[in-house]
Amino acid sequence: MSFETLLLDRSDGIATITINRPEKRNALSAAVRRELVAALDAVEADTSVRVVVLTGAGEKAFVAGADIAEFAERTPIEQREAMEGRRVFDVVASLPKPVLAAINGFALGGGCELALACDIRLAARSARLGQPEVNLAILPGGGGTQRLPRLVGHGTAMRLILTGELIDAAEAHRIGLVDEVVDDGALAARARELAGSIARHSPVALKLIKQSVRAAAEMPLSAGLALERELFITAFSSEDRVEGVRAFLEKRTPNFEGR
Ligand code: COA
Repeated sequence: MSFETLLLDRSDGIATITINRPEKRNALSAAVRRELVAALDAVEADTSVRVVVLTGAGEKAFVAGADIAEFAERTPIEQREAMEGRRVFDVVASLPKPVLAAINGFALGGGCELALACDIRLAARSARLGQPEVNLAILPGGGGTQRLPRLVGHGTAMRLILTGELIDAAEAHRIGLVDEVVDDGALAARARELAGSIARHSPVALKLIKQSVRAAAEMPLSAGLALERELFITAFSSEDRVEGVRAFLEKRTPNFEGR
């Protein structure tokens, strides 16, 4: 599979998707969004892929947001059409495989929202994050007003979204927006290491874990606990569970087939 705006590498159970428009700070043009959805569909269908890493090309940006040049050319009706259908943020969030964001530089607007849709966020020490849409007299439209407060709390989310201020990786870590800060040169290796430590597990378990933890943000506790119990029984019914338990008792490494 080849793309104009992305690089897709698949090895060792890890798919790395690199948004590759460094000259435009990896801004999310319509083409990038379309190709991202296609790449995510491909890695979903590929049973050799157990974990996805999302990152940006170059040293400056993860993703510097929506393509502002495209905004300038669109009517409101065209903008509505662009925001309808399958949206990349939702495709990432609902992908039945864990997705790690390796934030290698600016993650602004839709870039921050893309990271928010991921399951784990690693940031290079020099990365800067923010929701600067207010500077353009708009608001986050890729889930930022919903996912950011769930992650960092109402007041902190409001401060970021109302001021449009950018924060560095250390501050993003302090408020819980990123999970780990890594020295710039070590980000890709650390993302791969973390992805690898996830990829060795059963894909059945990984899928059900993501489904259950994601449900926590949407469900009342009692419904979430009931769902967790059902998903536990689903995992318990898998061949991988039988293999995992047997391998433990036989003191050997399990061989998970994803069934
Ligand atoms: N949409 C479209 N093009 C963008 C872009 C975006 N979101 N972000 C950067 N670019 C383009 C610039 O227009 C410039 O293009 P040009 O070389 O053809 O003039 C190129 O990328 C480099 O940008 P530049 O501003 O020169 O790089 P920088 O390293 O000095 O600054 C940013 C990087 C990310 C701080 C700055 O580009 C920026 O503030 N971008 C907009 C961020 C934003 O508001 N995002 C939310 C959108 S809702």
